Amino acid sequence: MSKICINIAWPYANGPIHLGHLAGSLLPPDIFSRYHRLLGDEVLMVGGSDQHGTPITVSAEKNGMTPEQYADKYHEINKKAIEDMGIEYTLYNKTHCPTHFEVVQKIFEELKSKGYIYVKETEQYYCPKCARFLPDRYVEGVCPVCKAEKTRSDQCDSCGTTFEAGMLIDPYCTLCGSRPEVRPTSHFFLKLSAFTDDLIRFIESKEDWRSNVKAFTQNWLEGGLQDRAITRDMSWGVPIPEEGWDDKVIYVWFDAVIGYLSASVEYSRMIGKPDYWKEFWKDPECRHYYFIGKDNIPFHSIIWPAILMGVGGMDLPYDIPANEYLMIGGGKFSKSRGGAIDIPSVLKEYDADLIRYYLSAIMPDTHDSEFSWDDFITKINNELVADLGNYYHRCLSFTKKNFGTVPEAGGDPEAGKAIEDAFKEYSECVGRCDFKKGLKVMMDLAHFGNRYFDSKKPWALVKDDKEACGRVMGDNLRIVKALCMMAWPYMPRSSEKVWSYLGYCGTPEDMGFDKIMEPVPAGQALQEPIPVYRKIEVKKEEKPKEQKKEAPAAVLDGPFADFRRMDIRVGEVISVDDHPEAEKLYVLKIDLGEEEPRQIVTNLKSVYSREQMLERKLLVISNLKPAKFRGVQSSGMLMAADDEPLGGSAILLLKPSKDVPNGTAVNCGMQCSSSRIEVKHCEKATIKVARVKDGKFLGKDIELPEGSPEVVAAVIDGDKAVPLGDGKGCVMTVESEVMDGADVV
Ligand code: MF3
Ligand code: ZN
Repeated sequence: MSKICINIAWPYANGPIHLGHLAGSLLPPDIFSRYHRLLGDEVLMVGGSDQHGTPITVSAEKNGMTPEQYADKYHEINKKAIEDMGIEYTLYNKTHCPTHFEVVQKIFEELKSKGYIYVKETEQYYCPKCARFLPDRYVEGVCPVCKAEKTRSDQCDSCGTTFEAGMLIDPYCTLCGSRPEVRPTSHFFLKLSAFTDDLIRFIESKEDWRSNVKAFTQNWLEGGLQDRAITRDMSWGVPIPEEGWDDKVIYVWFDAVIGYLSASVEYSRMIGKPDYWKEFWKDPECRHYYFIGKDNIPFHSIIWPAILMGVGGMDLPYDIPANEYLMIGGGKFSKSRGGAIDIPSVLKEYDADLIRYYLSAIMPDTHDSEFSWDDFITKINNELVADLGNYYHRCLSFTKKNFGTVPEAGGDPEAGKAIEDAFKEYSECVGRCDFKKGLKVMMDLAHFGNRYFDSKKPWALVKDDKEACGRVMGDNLRIVKALCMMAWPYMPRSSEKVWSYLGYCGTPEDMGFDKIMEPVPAGQALQEPIPVYRKIEVKKEEKPKEQKKEAPAAVLDGPFADFRRMDIRVGEVISVDDHPEAEKLYVLKIDLGEEEPRQIVTNLKSVYSREQMLERKLLVISNLKPAKFRGVQSSGMLMAADDEPLGGSAILLLKPSKDVPNGTAVNCGMQCSSSRIEVKHCEKATIKVARVKDGKFLGKDIELPEGSPEVVAAVIDGDKAVPLGDGKGCVMTVESEVMDGADVV
């Protein structure tokens, strides 16, 4: 038995949680915790509502409520939505509560006494008209990195950059619209810089972390760690435990991450074992997992570990399986976009387990994924109902009708091996947080079950040899039972029903995975089964109304939206073959830093010889729908400059100006979507190649990183031009002459 501490990102209590929260950070830990409970492990699963900070005060003000009323209202609503979805926290706490204040203040004092927290004068936005400081969301302006408008002063939602006050272009006060000044004010700072070496060592030791988490973290570390202000000029939040600091409070992010610990303490007190939390936080054998969305990565991989290191003697994160985004209509699921589908309204239409199934099947674990109601119905009807539901029901109803109780299993090794193999693979997947794959392995076993049932023809056998039929059905019920246990973490309520139809009391958890191979006991009374999953009738008008908002083509808002729809990667050609059917085409294998090389068909054979092609570094649009060219699949498109429309004759592949690793994202430092697109979407973005003279690219201002070549590719949107590159100093160029203004296609 091991100890597992499952920590879940705290959703802000500033609105109802939606499917994006569910797929991103709430459902994965519930699957994981149930899996560990089936293994017999001791699980502590904590989180709650994040109630402080400007996200709450801004929303409360808009709704004419006090921050406390507002945050408590959504705490209750979201707590209920989470329970209704079948997500079982050990404790779903909230940050505006005495235990949390106490723990946060204690840690603050402890770090201060060790010199890790100190006072410094700094600049903050201040609105002379409103006569107040304007922390975080009270100021908006243009992002200095991606130029997105209406960007908040603490973090850009479009490109993910975090800011200090004073960095926005054209800032304005969100209360009155006037231009703020920056004024000096004193704040407490966390001495992050003191932890640089320890953090670097910590991250390096985490070989199995998801690549997105590692890359993001290493990036931050490479940029050098700045000490960060951890207090704000406002009154809503955890009070600073020092004399004379009444007009300021602790910054929401500093208090929220400590919530994991304070919720563990709160739970320990609730059960009357005040030191229980120590068994999880001070036992080096206990594994701490953090389930979060990708925008929360640095707070969990850098700031929280630094706080824990500063306190000392505390367990650091074991893994941080951060998810990418769930998208709808090509945009991110979020409250502000209006595309969000909140949980209470979904639950009015569908059982929680159906939603859980679908979100597990499309979980955005390594890539953004696209939610659609059509796909939801297809997956429920064609997979869940057709495979798993069908198998459950035909086995249970046939056996109940013909035998009434569970017959003695024949012990067919084929059935036993199928269960054993599936369970082994399932455990490997779920154990490493690959929930999508784990679900698939379980569904493959259901598929096997159906074929197994068919091949044994029990409906005929029951007439010829009832005893043999009983043995066959006993073997089938053994598969049903194994499926039911493996499905429980994903779909607990429906699995518990099947469990009861099999004649068991309690839940699969009461039995545990160590008995998964055992047949259902002969003679156990079966209950009358009712199909647990039913086909969804497609009546177009009755689908939830959000359906209408979902444009077929991705709609991302904001500057460079067309560009941000593409997932462009640096690749390297590792093999060049002639197309078997088409003389003019090459079939390339390109290393994009993924597990397998990509196969891409290109018509550049007349331009580049095999030798010129081989080992070439180039750019690939990697999220294109795969297409077939004369029978050969192509998963992506190369990017080249073409000046023919301008009267030239050059076609030149773009290449990186620096040696960057294969798979490097060419996103200009913006947050790009990786959901599937079609060629026509790529054509919308304007990318051109030209020589930069006097800071101008085709007449538009452009800023190039130091050491860039003169001829570069750049993305144009309106009157803005940004160099095409990784946003960190590597830009894209061509190796010989091409006319200025050549199109990149
Ligand atoms: N409230 C934050 C968000 O929604 C997440 C906080 S997670 C914690 O992005 F670490 F701070 F708890
Ligand atoms: Zn930005």
